[in-house]
Amino acid sequence: MSTVVIVGTQWGDEGKGKIVDFLTEKAEVVARYQGGHNAGHTVVINNEKYILHLIPSGILHKGKKCVIGNGVVIAPDALISEINGLKKRGIDTDGNLLISKNAHVIMPYHTAIEKENENRKGNKKIGTTGRGIGPSYTDKVARHGIRMMDLLTPDVFKEKLSANLTTINFLLENFYKAAPLKADAIYDEYMKYAERLSKYIADTDVIINNKIDSGENVLFEGAQGTLLDIDHGTYPFVTSSNTIAGGACTGLGVGPTKISRVLGIAKAYTTRVGEGPFPTELKNAIGESIRQKGREFGATTGRPRRCGWLDMVILKYSIRVNGLTGIALTKMDILDGMDKLKICVGYKHNGRLYEEFPKETEVLENCEPVYEEVEGWKESTLGIKGFDKLPANAKKYIKKIEEMLKTEVQIISTGQKRDEIIVLKEQF
Ligand code: IMP
Repeated sequence: MSTVVIVGTQWGDEGKGKIVDFLTEKAEVVARYQGGHNAGHTVVINNEKYILHLIPSGILHKGKKCVIGNGVVIAPDALISEINGLKKRGIDTDGNLLISKNAHVIMPYHTAIEKENENRKGNKKIGTTGRGIGPSYTDKVARHGIRMMDLLTPDVFKEKLSANLTTINFLLENFYKAAPLKADAIYDEYMKYAERLSKYIADTDVIINNKIDSGENVLFEGAQGTLLDIDHGTYPFVTSSNTIAGGACTGLGVGPTKISRVLGIAKAYTTRVGEGPFPTELKNAIGESIRQKGREFGATTGRPRRCGWLDMVILKYSIRVNGLTGIALTKMDILDGMDKLKICVGYKHNGRLYEEFPKETEVLENCEPVYEEVEGWKESTLGIKGFDKLPANAKKYIKKIEEMLKTEVQIISTGQKRDEIIVLKEQF
């Protein structure tokens, strides 16, 4: 038996979708443990691009069980349109997709409240994806959330919806000065969703644990990245779930003793989308050229991603809070052709050198990154499948990362396609 957690080590968009897709070949089950349709996992197969938001990328392999865990928040309409979109392209979810009974539902009032909150914050806004993720998790923690299993008992759903709307509509009308929402319309809409999704709703914790106990390989798919974690990220500029590897346990009902490995996905440089501190950000022509070459535009919202140099302070932190057993380095090819590359090894702030990730937003916002400069490589790394075939300086870049982090780079992605990959250590 082997279980591997796939986790983003930076601010998301590290290329987890491709690595999950690649590793799914040897897994029987792929399970998403947190987040919602704020995520956008891009996979390219035979020149065809698929962007998955809620369904684990493993669905692109025939016959694999794909689980949406209790830690995920689900917008039923987004999920249905994803299921329909896959069906149109010949990918059937029936019999393979499983949704946790305990997963929370994103309701129309979550998106409405989020919009009003972001508008009110002005230049202090989080820059969310606007999908209702935060308010849905807020309801979960406040213990008046609606869960997927509630959709299966109309009376329970109706009662919870009506209780929630009493407060929400009071807020919308009196505080936000916005239009109230109508319970009947929401009820009818969500009952249609329930009809469509009921066949997928299951006790997913039992299914996953049985699979693990019977010796099957299971992949746990994280969304977003470590620095967007609600507890360990750059709070308040974070998402509302535990994106770190530990989230796989709470978000699926799997005990920590059942986790064999944790593979951290790191982009060969750094990106961030939305507001918040970003010490190595390049607000110049180099940043722009990385953005264009790396197609650094959000897979969910289309927003341009902020780009910057690789940051060891962040990766060291990620190794610690996730307990990484290895790293998959992605988008190496985007750095092809650059004269020099910079690697951040510390932050300077008020005369102090930070080598460990500082928790204070003020330090992160105002620090000056300390860089080590290394030689770039002129040759193309696109599609290279063997480590020995990489340009000498690309090999040096990877070796340097390993030395600085004291952690193995076990997979290197050299392009968008499934087979554009170098595997130095098998995960299963
Ligand atoms: P939310 O998850 O929509 O609440 O957004 C909170 C923050 O997380 C914002 O900065 C978003 O841009 C960021 N975020 C959410 N999902 C992703 C993702 O999949 N990739 C990168 N950033 C994300």
